[in-house]
Amino acid sequence: MKEIKIQLKNLSVFFNYIQALNDVSLDFYSNKVTSIIGPSGCGKTSLLRTINRMNELIAGFLRKGSVFIDGIDIYDEKIDVVNLRKLVGMVFQTSNLFPKSIYENLIFAPKLHGISDKSDLNEIVERICTQTAIWDEVKDRLNENALNLSAGQQQRLCIARALAVEPNILLMDEPASALDPISTAKIEELIFDLKSRYTIVIVTHNMQQAARISDYTAFLYLGQLIEFGKTTKLFTNPANKQTEDYITGRFG
Ligand SMILES: Nc1ncnc2c1ncn2[C@@H]1O[C@H](COP(=O)(O)OP(=O)(O)OP(=O)(O)O)[C@@H](O)[C@H]1O
Ligand SMILES: [Mg+2]
Repeated sequence: MKEIKIQLKNLSVFFNYIQALNDVSLDFYSNKVTSIIGPSGCGKTSLLRTINRMNELIAGFLRKGSVFIDGIDIYDEKIDVVNLRKLVGMVFQTSNLFPKSIYENLIFAPKLHGISDKSDLNEIVERICTQTAIWDEVKDRLNENALNLSAGQQQRLCIARALAVEPNILLMDEPASALDPISTAKIEELIFDLKSRYTIVIVTHNMQQAARISDYTAFLYLGQLIEFGKTTKLFTNPANKQTEDYITGRFG
């Protein structure tokens, strides 16, 4: 049974006079990976950032339409944004670790949310590192500066860090685009392992990657949702001519 986790309804996004999204309606299913693809500037990041209300930090941002998570309107005035971001973790294109120890990075969010007991924090660190298969690489280096890690390790540590406050949605904006093929493969494996526990939405420029890792794919063009469907269908038998042109490399 497919269960809807996130629902976008007639969502439009503006930054001052620029319209980044135009009337997008789209469902993301629980415990599935959905890729967002489309050419540069088509609104992928803007869409992702509406799901944890990150766009609000930008001056000139205006939203029309709704975003529901588990059926609840996340733009309702009663919603606590700090709690929302706890539920919806996010990983960016390049690592945004703090220039502090690996351990400090991993316990930052749990501490912010009131966990202070040392053994609880240690337990969280081990759990999230094990879950993201990076424990063996970091367990003897927890007090070392996180920025000493390789780019691929840093990115996996960012994913681990995003899991520290037990979100149930994970948003990823081109998480592997700055990485070598081996580190990319590790991220892809990790995404595959994580989907049994999380609903994952990933923006990627790499269509082979979208085809490999996602259950569903959404194709955006000039702020509009052109096509959404099962990844296998969208890549082998797209319903729309623009989708076909894009996935066959005729533009973008
Ligand atoms: N902070 C901002 N201020 C003004 N305009 C913005 C802002 N962020 C995005 N935009 C505009 O919104 C549109 C969509 O941008 P967005 O970053 O969502 O595209 P994208 O699909 O993620 O592109 P890319 O693949 O290059 O990352 C673009 O026209 C962009 O210039
Ligand atoms: Mg982007």
